[in-house]
Amino acid sequence: RKAVTIPALRAMKTRGEKIAMLTCYDASFAAQIEAADVDVALVGDSLGMVVQGRNSTLPVTLDDMAYHTRLVARGLSATLLVADLPYMSYRDTAHARDAAARLLGECGAAMLKLEGAGWVCEIIADLVAREAPVCAHLGLTPQAVHRLGGYRVQGREADAAECLCNDALAVQAAGAELLVLEAVPAALAARISQALQIPVIGIGAGVECDGQVLVLYDMLGITPGKRPKFSKDFLTDAGSVANALKAYVAAVRAAEFPGAEHVY
Ligand code: KIV
Ligand code: NA
Repeated sequence: RKAVTIPALRAMKTRGEKIAMLTCYDASFAAQIEAADVDVALVGDSLGMVVQGRNSTLPVTLDDMAYHTRLVARGLSATLLVADLPYMSYRDTAHARDAAARLLGECGAAMLKLEGAGWVCEIIADLVAREAPVCAHLGLTPQAVHRLGGYRVQGREADAAECLCNDALAVQAAGAELLVLEAVPAALAARISQALQIPVIGIGAGVECDGQVLVLYDMLGITPGKRPKFSKDFLTDAGSVANALKAYVAAVRAAEFPGAEHVY
């Protein structure tokens, strides 16, 4: 399999080919993800919740991210590896550079993901100028859970939608090469995907995004507690982890996932 690169993702968007992305936290699942032809693996700070059993992503440390990024890198070859910068690890350019040195320089990630726009645009530009590619993350940004007051859909009101569009343009202008849009109305996500040159990967953002991402344990149906509206258990019907991953990739590529029942 040909290595997935950042320019290759941009070319997929141009050709109208959907991008399939999943989170991953260890080498065994990384090998499964690699075998299923997933384009992008994300070591998400969601590991704080699904691996560590915490009730938010805020306690996740850069050491945690470095550990899991190393594990996942050992299981991958062609799949592009993206790692989240955890809460406060990019609070200024100096910390963000140190985090990049670890996750890209030492642990094998190819790209970093940061939540937010505004002051974060300056951090994005600084990283990109130092050859640390960036994936932005807007909409429901879990590191902002206390301000947002919970994990809920974002950008419903007209002024919030306008603000989200402007933020999306701003992170692109700052040099982000990819954007994750989480829990926003499908029509708004479609508008943003069309407005941006960079690929937009949706989670709870409708089928018209340029690609989809899910938390691995959500799509395997093993996350404890309530499953988010936008996720789907692919394991029950598929019968094995390998087949569940293949079914997810096929459903994303065919624009069959997400369906109307997974969308705001
Ligand atoms: O941490 C994570 O799993 C994420 C995805 C939900 C995009 O940021
Ligand atoms: Na995350």
